[in-house]
Amino acid sequence: MIPVIMAGGSGTRLWPLSRTAFPKQFLALDGQLTMLQQTAARLDGLSEQAPMVICNEDHRFLVADQLLQHGKKATILLEPVGRNTAPAIALAAFQALAQNTGDEAPVLLVLAADHVIRNTKAFQQAASALLPAVKAGKIGTLGIVPTEPATGYGYIRAGVAADAGFVVEQFIEKPNLATAQEYVAAGNYYWNSGMFMVRADRYLELLKQFRADIYQACEQAMANVVADLDFVRVNGEAFKACPDESIDYAIMEPLSAVAGEPQVVVAPLDAGWSDVGSWSALWDIAEKDEGNNATLGESDVIMSNTTNSFVYGEKRLITTLGVDNLVIIDTPDALLVANKDEVQNVKNIVAEIKAAQ
Ligand code: GDD
Ligand code: MG
Repeated sequence: MIPVIMAGGSGTRLWPLSRTAFPKQFLALDGQLTMLQQTAARLDGLSEQAPMVICNEDHRFLVADQLLQHGKKATILLEPVGRNTAPAIALAAFQALAQNTGDEAPVLLVLAADHVIRNTKAFQQAASALLPAVKAGKIGTLGIVPTEPATGYGYIRAGVAADAGFVVEQFIEKPNLATAQEYVAAGNYYWNSGMFMVRADRYLELLKQFRADIYQACEQAMANVVADLDFVRVNGEAFKACPDESIDYAIMEPLSAVAGEPQVVVAPLDAGWSDVGSWSALWDIAEKDEGNNATLGESDVIMSNTTNSFVYGEKRLITTLGVDNLVIIDTPDALLVANKDEVQNVKNIVAEIKAAQ
């Protein structure tokens, strides 16, 4: 099994800490290791094969350094621009087939570089459970029991029991709130964790079937690539011409809607998973004091008569007095003060700043 770590996201909802030059996956948001390093460390004992990391070429040294610090060797595929996850996984699939020396088609374990998973053992067990079905040609997903009608996730409708867990009757990417509420109430839905397992040849076959345009662009982008140390730089012009789409819309939704034998399986994952998509999600998983406050970073923080708040600081002393439910993120060149219930909209601030530049 080849771990494929997707590390090309921008993590704008964690602004001002997460920046274009230094997005979320390269930050240590939960403990000493960065999210990328945690993702790589989580594979120890699960796969002996060197992982592939797919990232923007601007981040190549960041990725190489962080993996090296952690004693990990990886093939690093470099994208000149982000085209979302369907093309990113296609690049990995072409690379896996090109470097394959065995008789069996390589299996890809596709992972996000920016998730927290507290129970590594449970994660490894759930992933291993998917392997037989995936070898037989299915796409495997890891499903999380939903705790709220979040609209930022894919939803998986579980059908009858299968080897790994359940067959998937339907996959719905990011439904609206009313639909998400129905799904959570129904009880037979999981959140898509964003991790997938699929045979490289099978992924490309499905991509060709559902999105021949993406398949062709990626095939061209990977034709005659040159490896430069551990870096594989894809053909820039071909890749720039590739449509932008996620695996969720490009393959998971249409594949799960095809009549006949279900082609997707889900293994339930109960492992303390969080995609740390916002400051409130980070507060959720952080250790809290008696006022239910959490802090991160090097700053000294004094919180008096303060409750349910989250403070990040790098240097100067930060103090709060008589406030509730606040998020304060203090970086050298930007400060965010927000109501914790509004932090999903931080991405709108980032868009406003970009528009003004
Ligand atoms: N290499 C590369 N290139 N990686 C990318 C790109 C890209 O263009 N775009 C995103 N990624 C990486 C991100 O860094 C992240 O690790 C992962 O792919 C998923 O991308 P997100 O942009 O974070 O997706 P999402 O959160 O909106 O939705 C996905 O994850 C949810 C769970 O966190 C979907 O799979 C949902 O269905 C799922 O519920
Ligand atoms: Mg995400």
